[in-house]
Amino acid sequence: YWGIFVAGLLIYMWLLGYQWMPPVAFQPAIENPDEIKTIKVTAGQWFWTLEQEVRADTGNNQSNNNNYSSQITVNAGDTVKFVARSQDVNHGFAILSSSNSMDSPLIQMQVVPGYDNIVYYTFDKPGIYTIRCFEYCGWNHPYMLSQITIEAV
Ligand code: CUA
Repeated sequence: YWGIFVAGLLIYMWLLGYQWMPPVAFQPAIENPDEIKTIKVTAGQWFWTLEQEVRADTGNNQSNNNNYSSQITVNAGDTVKFVARSQDVNHGFAILSSSNSMDSPLIQMQVVPGYDNIVYYTFDKPGIYTIRCFEYCGWNHPYMLSQITIEAV
């Protein structure tokens, strides 16, 4: 009877929590999807690289769907779609609250090799934010750090 009770409790908790387990990447309701800025994140032992999608708004019709720049331009209030890929092992993509590399995290996402790992975040305040690995990925894991700068509007 204890086994049935515990199994029932687990099923009950699973049902309660199901709404927080979306089967697809959570996408916030954005009135104008063109306003989302896409940043491609590459994770590897032991580095982060960030590249921002460049919109072809010069009237140049030649297809450049994969046009990315290492120059990141994000303003406070912008919603960013981070698309993270790993070159090797699991990493944890975390953005911390400030340039202090020991500050508290704002978001965290596993970066699983072979997948586009997607998270959306809207930066409210300008400043320098630390990017830090939150999944043990080898001896240099504690120093797998980077930064992203959010400009004042
Ligand atoms: Cu990458 Cu820890």
